[in-house]
Amino acid sequence: MSNLNLRKAQRVKDDEFYTMYRDIEKELAHYLPHFKGKSVYLNCDNPILSQFWAYFSTNFQKLELKELIATHYINQNPTLFDTKPIPKPNLYRQTPKGIKKEFLMDDGDFRSKECKDILEKSDIVVTNPPFSLFREYIAQLIKYDKKFLIIGNQNAISYKEIFPLLKENKVWLGHTYGRMMFHISNHNYRLSTKTQTFGNICWFTNLETNKRNESLPLFKLYNENDYPKYDNYDAINVDWVDEIPIDYDGYMGVPITFMQKHNPNQFEIIGQGQGNLYRELTSKGLSQKFVDDYYKTGGTGSIKEDHPVLGYYDKKGKAVIPYMRIIISKINQNGEIGRHARLKIL
Ligand SMILES: C[S@@+](CC[C@H](N)C(=O)[O-])C[C@H]1O[C@@H](n2cnc3c(N)ncnc32)[C@H](O)[C@@H]1O
Repeated sequence: MSNLNLRKAQRVKDDEFYTMYRDIEKELAHYLPHFKGKSVYLNCDNPILSQFWAYFSTNFQKLELKELIATHYINQNPTLFDTKPIPKPNLYRQTPKGIKKEFLMDDGDFRSKECKDILEKSDIVVTNPPFSLFREYIAQLIKYDKKFLIIGNQNAISYKEIFPLLKENKVWLGHTYGRMMFHISNHNYRLSTKTQTFGNICWFTNLETNKRNESLPLFKLYNENDYPKYDNYDAINVDWVDEIPIDYDGYMGVPITFMQKHNPNQFEIIGQGQGNLYRELTSKGLSQKFVDDYYKTGGTGSIKEDHPVLGYYDKKGKAVIPYMRIIISKINQNGEIGRHARLKIL
Protein backbone atom coordinates (compact mmCIF):
# COMPACT_ATOMS: atom_id res chain seq x y z
CA MET A 1 0.00 0.00 0.00
CA SER A 2 1.36 3.45 -0.90
CA ASN A 3 2.17 5.97 1.83
CA LEU A 4 -0.77 8.08 0.72
CA ASN A 5 -3.17 5.16 1.02
CA LEU A 6 -1.71 4.19 4.37
CA ARG A 7 -2.23 7.73 5.61
CA LYS A 8 -5.78 7.67 4.26
CA ALA A 9 -6.37 4.34 5.98
CA GLN A 10 -5.00 5.69 9.23
CA ARG A 11 -7.26 8.75 8.91
CA VAL A 12 -10.32 6.59 8.35
CA LYS A 13 -9.34 4.47 11.35
CA ASP A 14 -8.84 7.58 13.51
CA ASP A 15 -12.34 8.76 12.68
CA GLU A 16 -14.20 5.55 13.53
CA PHE A 17 -15.34 6.37 17.04
CA TYR A 18 -19.03 6.22 17.80
CA THR A 19 -20.76 8.36 20.36
CA MET A 20 -22.59 6.68 23.23
CA TYR A 21 -26.32 7.11 23.69
CA ARG A 22 -25.96 8.26 27.29
CA ASP A 23 -23.60 11.10 26.29
CA ILE A 24 -25.95 12.28 23.54
CA GLU A 25 -28.93 12.18 25.90
CA LYS A 26 -27.01 14.03 28.62
CA GLU A 27 -25.95 16.90 26.33
CA LEU A 28 -29.20 17.13 24.38
CA ALA A 29 -31.16 17.56 27.62
CA HIS A 30 -30.00 21.20 27.65
CA TYR A 31 -31.40 22.10 24.23
CA LEU A 32 -34.73 20.29 23.89
CA PRO A 33 -36.98 23.32 23.08
CA HIS A 34 -34.81 24.15 20.05
CA PHE A 35 -35.97 21.04 18.22
CA LYS A 36 -39.71 21.58 18.09
CA GLY A 37 -40.95 21.60 14.48
CA LYS A 38 -37.39 21.38 13.11
CA SER A 39 -35.63 19.27 10.47
CA VAL A 40 -32.61 17.63 12.02
CA TYR A 41 -29.76 16.42 9.83
CA LEU A 42 -27.16 13.87 10.96
CA ASN A 43 -24.68 14.02 8.09
CA CYS A 44 -21.97 11.65 9.35
CA ASP A 45 -24.26 8.96 10.68
CA ASN A 46 -25.01 5.45 9.58
CA PRO A 47 -28.24 4.55 11.43
CA ILE A 48 -27.00 0.99 11.86
CA LEU A 49 -24.27 2.32 14.14
CA SER A 50 -25.22 5.84 15.10
CA GLN A 51 -26.64 6.48 18.53
CA PHE A 52 -27.50 9.98 17.31
CA TRP A 53 -29.98 8.31 14.97
CA ALA A 54 -31.17 6.06 17.81
CA TYR A 55 -31.69 9.08 20.07
CA PHE A 56 -33.54 11.31 17.60
CA SER A 57 -35.56 8.49 16.04
CA THR A 58 -36.69 7.24 19.48
CA ASN A 59 -37.51 10.76 20.68
CA PHE A 60 -38.99 11.95 17.38
CA GLN A 61 -42.45 12.56 18.83
CA LYS A 62 -41.31 13.83 22.20
CA LEU A 63 -39.10 16.45 20.51
CA GLU A 64 -41.92 17.20 18.02
CA LEU A 65 -39.49 16.98 15.10
CA LYS A 66 -40.63 17.77 11.59
CA GLU A 67 -38.08 15.52 9.92
CA LEU A 68 -34.96 13.54 10.73
CA ILE A 69 -32.40 12.72 8.03
CA ALA A 70 -29.20 10.72 8.35
CA THR A 71 -26.66 10.23 5.59
CA HIS A 72 -23.37 8.42 5.82
CA TYR A 73 -20.14 8.20 3.98
CA ILE A 74 -19.32 5.15 1.93
CA ASN A 75 -15.61 4.87 1.43
CA GLN A 76 -15.16 4.35 -2.34
CA ASN A 77 -11.56 3.29 -1.81
CA PRO A 78 -11.85 0.48 0.71
CA THR A 79 -8.77 0.04 2.85
CA LEU A 80 -7.42 -2.83 4.85
CA PHE A 81 -9.84 -1.81 7.60
CA ASP A 82 -12.94 -2.57 5.50
CA THR A 83 -13.56 -6.28 5.49
CA LYS A 84 -17.16 -6.59 4.34
CA PRO A 85 -19.16 -5.31 1.36
CA ILE A 86 -20.52 -1.87 2.02
CA PRO A 87 -24.16 -1.82 3.04
CA LYS A 88 -26.74 0.40 1.39
CA PRO A 89 -28.97 2.43 1.45
CA ASN A 90 -27.19 5.45 2.86
CA LEU A 91 -29.97 7.95 3.39
CA TYR A 92 -32.57 7.44 6.12
CA ARG A 93 -35.47 9.82 6.43
CA GLN A 94 -37.98 9.87 9.28
CA THR A 95 -41.18 11.92 9.24
CA PRO A 96 -44.31 11.59 11.39
CA LYS A 97 -45.45 9.02 8.78
CA GLY A 98 -42.50 6.69 9.40
CA ILE A 99 -38.97 5.86 8.21
CA LYS A 100 -37.92 5.63 4.54
CA LYS A 101 -34.58 4.30 3.35
CA GLU A 102 -33.15 5.83 0.19
CA PHE A 103 -30.02 5.72 -1.94
CA LEU A 104 -27.64 8.59 -2.44
CA MET A 105 -26.16 8.89 -5.93
CA ASP A 106 -22.79 9.93 -4.54
CA ASP A 107 -20.63 8.61 -1.67
CA GLY A 108 -22.36 10.47 1.19
CA ASP A 109 -19.43 12.79 1.83
CA PHE A 110 -20.80 15.72 3.82
CA ARG A 111 -19.14 17.97 1.22
CA SER A 112 -20.93 16.38 -1.77
CA LYS A 113 -23.58 18.36 -3.64
CA GLU A 114 -26.32 15.95 -2.60
CA CYS A 115 -25.48 16.28 1.09
CA LYS A 116 -25.12 20.04 0.81
CA ASP A 117 -28.59 20.19 -0.77
CA ILE A 118 -30.01 18.32 2.22
CA LEU A 119 -28.04 20.57 4.56
CA GLU A 120 -29.47 23.66 2.90
CA LYS A 121 -33.02 22.49 3.68
CA SER A 122 -32.29 21.37 7.25
CA ASP A 123 -32.57 23.45 10.40
CA ILE A 124 -30.20 21.84 12.89
CA VAL A 125 -27.20 19.57 12.39
CA VAL A 126 -26.18 17.28 15.23
CA THR A 127 -23.36 14.76 15.07
CA ASN A 128 -19.85 13.75 15.91
CA PRO A 129 -18.04 14.52 12.63
CA PRO A 130 -14.70 13.01 11.57
CA PHE A 131 -12.02 14.56 13.76
CA SER A 132 -9.67 14.72 10.79
CA LEU A 133 -12.05 16.97 8.82
CA PHE A 134 -13.26 19.12 11.70
CA ARG A 135 -12.07 22.45 10.25
CA GLU A 136 -13.82 21.88 6.93
CA TYR A 137 -16.86 20.51 8.65
CA ILE A 138 -17.49 23.53 10.83
CA ALA A 139 -16.63 25.96 8.00
CA GLN A 140 -19.40 24.39 5.94
CA LEU A 141 -21.94 24.76 8.74
CA ILE A 142 -21.04 28.43 9.12
CA LYS A 143 -21.19 28.99 5.35
CA TYR A 144 -24.68 27.49 5.21
CA ASP A 145 -25.69 29.47 8.29
CA LYS A 146 -26.93 26.38 10.13
CA LYS A 147 -27.69 25.78 13.77
CA PHE A 148 -25.60 22.92 15.10
CA LEU A 149 -24.48 20.86 18.07
CA ILE A 150 -21.41 18.79 17.30
CA ILE A 151 -18.69 16.93 19.14
CA GLY A 152 -15.07 17.97 18.74
CA ASN A 153 -11.69 17.84 20.33
CA GLN A 154 -10.70 20.59 22.79
CA ASN A 155 -7.59 21.20 20.69
CA ALA A 156 -9.91 22.60 18.03
CA ILE A 157 -10.62 25.60 20.32
CA SER A 158 -7.26 27.07 19.37
CA TYR A 159 -7.39 26.25 15.64
CA LYS A 160 -7.01 29.40 13.60
CA GLU A 161 -10.25 28.57 11.78
CA ILE A 162 -12.25 27.92 14.98
CA PHE A 163 -10.94 30.37 17.59
CA PRO A 164 -12.21 33.48 15.73
CA LEU A 165 -15.72 31.95 15.74
CA LEU A 166 -15.55 31.53 19.53
CA LYS A 167 -14.11 35.02 19.94
CA GLU A 168 -16.89 36.58 17.88
CA ASN A 169 -19.55 34.59 19.74
CA LYS A 170 -20.69 32.80 16.60
CA VAL A 171 -19.90 29.47 18.27
CA TRP A 172 -19.58 28.46 21.92
CA LEU A 173 -18.96 25.36 23.95
CA GLY A 174 -21.71 23.04 25.15
CA HIS A 175 -22.01 21.43 28.56
CA THR A 176 -19.89 18.29 28.51
CA TYR A 177 -16.19 19.07 28.69
CA GLY A 178 -13.46 16.53 29.36
CA ARG A 179 -13.49 12.75 29.31
CA MET A 180 -15.83 10.88 27.01
CA MET A 181 -15.92 7.23 26.11
CA PHE A 182 -16.70 6.09 22.54
CA HIS A 183 -17.70 2.80 20.93
CA ILE A 184 -15.36 1.44 18.30
CA SER A 185 -16.79 -0.06 15.10
CA ASN A 186 -15.42 -3.43 14.08
CA HIS A 187 -15.90 -2.51 10.41
CA ASN A 188 -18.48 -5.20 10.02
CA TYR A 189 -20.97 -2.43 10.65
CA ARG A 190 -21.51 -3.40 14.25
CA LEU A 191 -20.41 -1.56 17.34
CA SER A 192 -17.76 -3.68 18.98
CA THR A 193 -17.59 -4.21 22.72
CA LYS A 194 -14.33 -2.28 22.72
CA THR A 195 -14.35 1.35 23.78
CA GLN A 196 -11.91 4.20 23.59
CA THR A 197 -11.80 7.10 26.05
CA PHE A 198 -10.59 10.55 25.13
CA GLY A 199 -9.82 13.07 27.86
CA ASN A 200 -10.27 16.21 25.80
CA ILE A 201 -13.70 16.22 24.24
CA CYS A 202 -16.25 19.02 24.10
CA TRP A 203 -19.34 20.05 22.18
CA PHE A 204 -19.37 23.04 19.84
CA THR A 205 -22.70 24.74 19.25
CA ASN A 206 -24.54 27.88 18.27
CA LEU A 207 -27.76 26.85 20.03
CA GLU A 208 -28.59 29.08 22.98
CA THR A 209 -28.26 27.44 26.37
CA ASN A 210 -28.70 28.80 29.92
CA LYS A 211 -25.13 28.01 30.81
CA ARG A 212 -23.97 30.80 28.52
CA ASN A 213 -25.73 33.38 30.66
CA GLU A 214 -24.33 32.15 33.96
CA SER A 215 -21.63 34.43 35.31
CA LEU A 216 -18.43 32.96 36.62
CA PRO A 217 -18.28 33.75 40.36
CA LEU A 218 -15.07 35.70 41.11
CA PHE A 219 -13.56 35.83 44.60
CA LYS A 220 -9.87 36.67 44.38
CA LEU A 221 -8.46 40.17 44.66
CA TYR A 222 -5.71 41.33 42.34
CA ASN A 223 -2.17 41.70 43.67
CA GLU A 224 1.06 42.09 41.74
CA ASN A 225 2.71 39.06 43.32
CA ASP A 226 0.17 36.45 42.35
CA TYR A 227 -0.64 37.89 38.95
CA PRO A 228 2.62 38.76 37.13
CA LYS A 229 2.47 40.84 33.97
CA TYR A 230 3.73 39.26 30.77
CA ASP A 231 7.15 40.43 29.69
CA ASN A 232 5.99 41.01 26.12
CA TYR A 233 2.32 41.98 26.43
CA ASP A 234 0.31 44.26 28.69
CA ALA A 235 -1.78 41.64 30.48
CA ILE A 236 -1.54 39.69 33.74
CA ASN A 237 -1.13 35.93 33.88
CA VAL A 238 -3.88 33.94 35.64
CA ASP A 239 -3.10 30.26 36.21
CA TRP A 240 -6.58 29.02 37.15
CA VAL A 241 -9.95 30.11 35.80
CA ASP A 242 -11.31 30.18 39.38
CA GLU A 243 -8.65 32.72 40.27
CA ILE A 244 -9.58 35.45 37.79
CA PRO A 245 -9.39 38.57 40.00
CA ILE A 246 -12.62 40.38 40.64
CA ASP A 247 -11.04 43.84 40.61
CA TYR A 248 -8.68 43.85 37.62
CA ASP A 249 -9.90 45.84 34.65
CA GLY A 250 -7.07 45.28 32.21
CA TYR A 251 -6.31 42.33 29.95
CA MET A 252 -5.79 38.90 31.53
CA GLY A 253 -4.26 35.70 30.13
CA VAL A 254 -6.29 32.66 31.23
CA PRO A 255 -6.06 28.92 30.51
CA ILE A 256 -8.03 27.54 27.58
CA THR A 257 -10.50 25.87 29.99
CA PHE A 258 -11.96 29.36 30.41
CA MET A 259 -13.86 28.83 27.15
CA GLN A 260 -16.10 26.34 28.92
CA LYS A 261 -17.20 29.02 31.41
CA HIS A 262 -17.38 31.98 29.04
CA ASN A 263 -20.36 34.29 29.37
CA PRO A 264 -20.19 37.00 26.68
CA ASN A 265 -21.95 39.48 28.99
CA GLN A 266 -19.20 39.07 31.59
CA PHE A 267 -16.02 38.88 29.49
CA GLU A 268 -14.77 39.72 26.06
CA ILE A 269 -12.24 37.50 24.32
CA ILE A 270 -9.36 39.56 22.99
CA GLY A 271 -7.04 37.00 21.40
CA GLN A 272 -4.71 34.04 21.68
CA GLY A 273 -1.42 34.12 23.58
CA GLN A 274 0.30 31.50 21.44
CA GLY A 275 0.19 29.84 18.05
CA ASN A 276 -1.02 30.95 14.63
CA LEU A 277 -3.17 33.80 15.88
CA TYR A 278 -0.58 35.30 18.24
CA ARG A 279 0.53 37.98 15.77
CA GLU A 280 -3.02 39.27 15.61
CA LEU A 281 -2.74 39.99 19.32
CA THR A 282 0.68 41.65 19.20
CA SER A 283 3.70 41.93 16.92
CA LYS A 284 6.00 41.54 19.95
CA GLY A 285 7.40 38.07 20.53
CA LEU A 286 9.79 37.06 23.34
CA SER A 287 12.85 39.27 23.87
CA GLN A 288 16.36 37.81 23.57
CA LYS A 289 16.88 38.52 27.30
CA PHE A 290 13.76 36.57 28.21
CA VAL A 291 14.86 33.65 26.02
CA ASP A 292 18.31 33.64 27.69
CA ASP A 293 16.74 33.78 31.17
CA TYR A 294 14.33 31.01 30.22
CA TYR A 295 17.15 28.62 29.31
CA LYS A 296 19.29 29.70 32.27
CA THR A 297 16.47 28.72 34.65
CA GLY A 298 15.97 25.28 33.14
CA GLY A 299 13.50 26.00 30.33
CA THR A 300 13.26 23.42 27.55
CA GLY A 301 12.15 23.40 23.90
CA SER A 302 13.35 25.44 20.95
CA ILE A 303 12.42 28.99 21.86
CA LYS A 304 14.11 31.83 20.02
CA GLU A 305 14.05 35.62 20.11
CA ASP A 306 10.69 36.99 18.86
CA HIS A 307 9.01 33.63 19.46
CA PRO A 308 5.23 34.23 19.25
CA VAL A 309 4.27 33.25 22.77
CA LEU A 310 3.60 35.05 26.06
CA GLY A 311 6.17 34.79 28.83
CA TYR A 312 6.43 36.19 32.37
CA TYR A 313 8.81 36.18 35.35
CA ASP A 314 7.37 34.41 38.41
CA LYS A 315 7.79 35.47 42.08
CA LYS A 316 11.25 33.88 42.20
CA GLY A 317 12.37 35.56 38.99
CA LYS A 318 12.08 32.41 36.92
CA ALA A 319 11.19 32.97 33.23
CA VAL A 320 7.98 31.03 32.58
CA ILE A 321 6.15 30.28 29.35
CA PRO A 322 2.66 29.14 30.33
CA TYR A 323 0.65 26.67 28.28
CA MET A 324 -1.74 28.30 25.79
CA ARG A 325 -3.36 31.42 27.22
CA ILE A 326 -6.45 33.21 25.98
CA ILE A 327 -6.53 36.95 26.57
CA ILE A 328 -9.78 38.21 28.03
CA SER A 329 -11.13 41.38 29.52
CA LYS A 330 -14.03 41.97 31.89
CA ILE A 331 -17.05 43.82 30.60
CA ASN A 332 -18.14 46.41 33.18
CA GLN A 333 -21.72 47.13 34.18
CA ASN A 334 -22.17 49.68 31.38
CA GLY A 335 -21.37 46.97 28.88
CA GLU A 336 -17.92 48.46 28.19
CA ILE A 337 -14.79 46.38 28.11
CA GLY A 338 -12.63 47.01 31.20
CA ARG A 339 -9.60 48.60 29.63
CA HIS A 340 -11.61 50.73 27.19
CA ALA A 341 -13.82 51.94 30.02
CA ARG A 342 -10.72 52.93 31.97
CA LEU A 343 -9.22 54.82 29.04
CA LYS A 344 -12.41 56.82 28.69
CA ILE A 345 -12.28 57.94 32.32
CA LEU A 346 -8.62 59.03 32.11
C1 LIG B 1 -16.08 10.17 14.80
S1 LIG B 1 -17.09 9.15 13.76
C2 LIG B 1 -18.66 9.42 14.47
C3 LIG B 1 -19.75 8.64 13.86
C4 LIG B 1 -21.15 9.07 14.34
N1 LIG B 1 -21.42 10.40 13.93
C5 LIG B 1 -21.24 8.92 15.84
O1 LIG B 1 -21.03 9.88 16.54
O2 LIG B 1 -21.50 7.81 16.32
C6 LIG B 1 -17.10 10.11 12.28
C7 LIG B 1 -17.80 9.44 11.14
O3 LIG B 1 -17.72 10.25 9.98
C8 LIG B 1 -17.50 9.41 8.85
N2 LIG B 1 -16.86 10.20 7.80
C9 LIG B 1 -15.55 10.28 7.48
N3 LIG B 1 -15.38 11.10 6.45
C10 LIG B 1 -16.60 11.58 6.11
C11 LIG B 1 -17.07 12.46 5.11
N4 LIG B 1 -16.21 13.02 4.27
N5 LIG B 1 -18.38 12.73 5.05
C12 LIG B 1 -19.26 12.14 5.91
N6 LIG B 1 -18.86 11.29 6.89
C13 LIG B 1 -17.55 11.00 6.96
C14 LIG B 1 -16.61 8.31 9.38
O4 LIG B 1 -16.72 7.18 8.58
C15 LIG B 1 -17.19 8.11 10.77
O5 LIG B 1 -18.20 7.15 10.76
